[in-house]
Amino acid sequence: MFHSPRSTQEFNAILEQLLQGKSKAIVLVDSNTLEHCWPRIGGLPALKDVYILEVSPGEDSKDLDICQGLWAECLSHGMDRNSVLINLGGGVVTDLGGFVASTFQRGIDFIHIPTTNLAMVDAAIGGKTGVNFNHLKNQIGTFAEPIAVILWPAFLDTLPQEQLESGFAEVLKHALIADPELFRQLRDSKLTLLELFPQIMDSACRVKTSIVARDHAERDERKKLNFGHTIGHALETVAWSMEQPVTHGVAVAAGMIAAVYLSFDKCGLAAAEGEAILEAIRQMIDLSSLPHLADADVLKAMQYDKKNEGGAFRFVLLRGIGEAEINCDVSEAEAQSALAQMYAYLNA
Ligand SMILES: NC(=O)c1ccc[n+]([C@@H]2O[C@H](COP(=O)([O-])OP(=O)(O)OC[C@H]3O[C@@H](n4cnc5c(N)ncnc54)[C@H](O)[C@@H]3O)[C@@H](O)[C@H]2O)c1
Repeated sequence: MFHSPRSTQEFNAILEQLLQGKSKAIVLVDSNTLEHCWPRIGGLPALKDVYILEVSPGEDSKDLDICQGLWAECLSHGMDRNSVLINLGGGVVTDLGGFVASTFQRGIDFIHIPTTNLAMVDAAIGGKTGVNFNHLKNQIGTFAEPIAVILWPAFLDTLPQEQLESGFAEVLKHALIADPELFRQLRDSKLTLLELFPQIMDSACRVKTSIVARDHAERDERKKLNFGHTIGHALETVAWSMEQPVTHGVAVAAGMIAAVYLSFDKCGLAAAEGEAILEAIRQMIDLSSLPHLADADVLKAMQYDKKNEGGAFRFVLLRGIGEAEINCDVSEAEAQSALAQMYAYLNA
C-alpha cells in the first residue's frame, strides 16, 4: 500500500498502475497544493476523466458544509463505486478527502498523496478520516484505509518552514513513544529539517504503521500516538476558535511539554531525559506563535478528548524516551499545573 517513488517517472508509473480499470478520478487539492504540487505530478496518466476539486487551505475546510459541496460535485461528475478520489495535500486534505470518499455511496476508493511531512508520517497513515464539528476537532469521522499512499518528500521543497517544523512535532512524538534511536538522530543531526526528513521518514512512518497494525481500532496501544495531543488538541481548538490559529505541530509540541512535566511526577520520567526532550522540542520547533490561552478554556476543550473515561482526563505519558504509558489519570488541578509549567518554560 505504501509507495516511495524516486522520480517523476516512477511516480507516474505507480499512479498509472493504481488507476488501471478505474472509470473516473477526482483530485482533491487545496489552493496551495494546486499551485505547488499538482504541476509536479505532470497530469494523470491512463484516465479519460479527471476532475480537480479545490478547497481553501486550512482547518476551516474540515467542515460538514464543505463535505456536502464535495459530495454534490462527486454526484454531478458521475462518480461511482469504480471511481477514485485522490487526496493531494496535507493532513487537512487527507482527513477531509478520506472522509468524503469513505462515506460517498458507502465508500469509494481513495489514494493519499501527502504533501506535508506531517501528513507523510502521520495523517495519511492509519486510516483515520474526519472533520471538525461545533468548533471541536475531528468529532465526525470514519476509520477507512486508502488503497495506496504515495510518499514523495520532493513535495516538501515548497512547504513553508513553519509547516515543516509542525510536521517534525509528530516525528518527535513518534520517537518519544517508541523509537529512542530516532530520538538520538533528531537530537544529534546537524542537517536542516528539509535535508534530514528523507533520512528519517521511513523510521517515523514505521512507528505509526506498526502500532496501527497491532491496534487499528485504538483499543489500547494506538492511544500512544496521542502523546502530547490531550492538551495539544485543546490548545489548537481554543486558539482556532479565537481566530488566532496555530499549526497542529505547535499545539502538539506545547502539549508534549506539558506531558513531560506530568510524566516527571506520575510516571517517574528521569529529569535528564525530560530535559533532553524539552531541549529537542525547543531546537526543532518555534513555539512563539502560541498565544497565552486561558486555562479555563483549555480545560473545557479537554473535556471533549476522546480518550477520557468516566469524567477523568486520560493522558499518554512517558516512563522514558521510547516508553509510553497509556490511560494515565490526571486531575484537573494536575492538568492546570502542567499548563502553568509549560507556559513558564516557553516564557523562560
Ligand atoms: N488522520 C490522522 O491520523 C491525523 C494525524 C495527525 C494530524 N491530522 C490532521 O492533519 C491536519 C494538519 O495537517 P498538516 O499539518 O499537513 O496541515 P495542512 O493540510 O493544513 O497543510 C499545511 C499548509 O501547508 C500547505 N501545503 C501543503 N503541502 C504543501 C506543499 N508541498 N507546498 C506548499 N504548501 C503546502 C497547505 O495548503 C496548508 O496551508 C490537522 O487537521 C490534523 O487534525 C490527522
